[in-house]
Parts: sequence; C-alpha cells; structure tokens
Amino acid sequence: MSNTCQADKHQEVSEYYGSTLQKSEDLKTNACCTIQAYPEYIRKPLGMIHDEVTSKYYGCGLTIPHELSGCRLLDLGSGSGRDCYLASYLVGAEGNVVGVDMTDEQLAVANRHIGYHMEQFGYDRPNVEFRNGLIEKLSELGLEADSFDVVISNCVINLCPDKVSALREIYRVLKPGGEFYFSDVYADQTVPQHLVEDPVLYGECLSGALAEQDFMALAVAAGFNPPREVERSPITIENEAVQALVGDIRFDSITYRLFKLPASTKGEGAQGGSVTYKGTLETTPDCFELDLEHRFAVGAAVAVSEAVRLILANSRFARHFEFIEAASC
Ligand SMILES: C[S@@+](CC[C@H](N)C(=O)[O-])C[C@H]1O[C@@H](n2cnc3c(N)ncnc32)[C@H](O)[C@@H]1O
Repeated sequence: MSNTCQADKHQEVSEYYGSTLQKSEDLKTNACCTIQAYPEYIRKPLGMIHDEVTSKYYGCGLTIPHELSGCRLLDLGSGSGRDCYLASYLVGAEGNVVGVDMTDEQLAVANRHIGYHMEQFGYDRPNVEFRNGLIEKLSELGLEADSFDVVISNCVINLCPDKVSALREIYRVLKPGGEFYFSDVYADQTVPQHLVEDPVLYGECLSGALAEQDFMALAVAAGFNPPREVERSPITIENEAVQALVGDIRFDSITYRLFKLPASTKGEGAQGGSVTYKGTLETTPDCFELDLEHRFAVGAAVAVSEAVRLILANSRFARHFEFIEAASC
C-alpha cells in the first residue's frame, strides 16, 4: 500500500473511532467487543475503572497477562485507556504504562481520567501516560529499543495498514525476553481488496484482518518465536448488510503471545527437558497456563519442547519455574 493510501486509512480509522462511534454499543458486529468472563485478578481493578473509559472500550479479548508487577508496559491503540488503567493497577506504583493511539478524541477521554485512577489505586503520582502517534512509527514517539517488558494491544493490529512495520516496531521496543500479548481479529482466508476498501468493514475490525497463516509468517519474519495461541472465539455478525458483504469468510478473535527470545541452538522441536511450576505467581498460584496446549499445575514436572523451555527460561516467568535439562531427564 502506498504512503498516501496508508495515510488515508489512518484518517478513515481515526474518524471511525473519533466520531462515528460514540460508545461500545454503536458497533455493528462483536468483532471489537467480544463478551467474556473475566478472571478474579481482573475483576477487582475493572470495577475501579471510570465509566466514561469503559463506555468507549472496543477491545476483542483480554490482553492482560500474569506477572506484571513492576513491569514497563506499552499498550498499542490504547483508545480510551481501559487496558492501560487495568495495567496501571497491576504493574503497581513502581511500574510504568505507556498508551499510544492516533485518535485525539480517544486520547482526550484517556487523559481526562489519569487523576481519578491515581486516587482509586492509591498512587502518589501517575504511573501511566498517553502519547499521540502511529504504531507503525514508535521511534518517532521517542520509544527506545529494548525498553519494554510487555507490549499489549487489543483489537488494533488489524486496523494498521502497514502490519510489517507495526510488528517490527513492537519487536524493536521489547526487551530481550519481553512479551507481546495481544488480541486481534483473524480471517480464515485472505480478505479481498474490495472489502479492505470498505470503510465500515475496515473500521469494524473485519476487513483489515490478516489470514492466520499470513500472520504467523509475518510474526516470525519480524523476529518473534512462533505465536502461541491463548484464547479463541468466533465472531458473530448479526448485521445482515455486513454479513452479505463478507459472504463465507469466517472471522475469529484470537489472543496470541509472542516472545523476543535468543535463537534456539538445538532446534525448537527438540526435547527441552522438564519444568516444574513453583506456584509463586500471585494471580494464578494453582496452575499457570502458557497457552491452549500448556498448562502447568503447581509442583508437577512436565516434559516440554525446547521452544517452550526457551520461553519459560528467558522471560519474566523464569523465576517461577524449576528447570531440569533434557540430558538428565
Ligand atoms: C478497536 S479500537 C480498540 C481500542 C482499545 N484497545 C480498546 O480495547 O478499547 C482501535 C484503536 O486503535 C487506534 N488505532 C488504530 N490504528 C492505529 C495506528 N496505526 N496507530 C495508532 N493507533 C491506531 C484507534 O484510534 C482506536 O482507538
């Protein structure tokens, strides 16, 4: 897509979220705003978020992973700030949260309630700030390489016209061992160009969606390890006009986690030995779910692949596990 077309897309999306939509209920599909049951560690801070912030929430999943205390976290396409404020609570007074969005109206809502949340959470000074800019150009916002522990994003990457630059920028700003944990919309096939050009389908987070296989390839090309799927829910389209336009294309909302890791010396499919969860993650003491395929009950030794060992041993989860090398298993 040319630079002019990308700028037009940014403008179109910004108008959609700045003026066309006023609140979550204005959406025509549940692509942004899939309903879900929240876990206990989210319910408490969620109840403390300002109503105006919540009323303009347009996410499609839960993008708040475990073990955030003390982290520096970046939320891309932070909108009215709901996930930034959840993260602000969970990183604690010593942590730090940066939200980036390109839509003035959304940023105005987010900025309006910084003081309110500081008081709610009992902080002496704000630990969250919002910056106006493009995800594809984080360096222009002064966001340095290797400077964030965790990057999150909720229903936004599909809206980026230049997804290659977006993923490269995310990889760049993450510290080694850092994690990109995000929910987005994916299609079961490549979405045809005439649908990409439809402003409503694009704004509703449908026609900018990548086919899953294309996303996998882009993530690895940007430097990440292969994406790990955490959650998936089908998107239902009740609006008949929208359904007629998309025809037989199926969309899912999927939460993936991607890590910035050292290259494997053994090959990712090799035996990685065994790992035992110590039960020390405050928000999930009984078991830790890395993804849909890996659930670690406290105290139980589990044989893992080299790919999974690399994630656990090189990320912020390392101190919560005991590791036994493959050779001595
Ligand atoms: C579907 S809304 C999600 C907002 C927020 N994550 C939430 O869960 O409520 C998408 C948001 O991403 C922002 N956005 C989309 N593309 C962007 C880009 N390329 N750079 C910066 N912000 C972008 C929009 O302005 C909008 O606020």
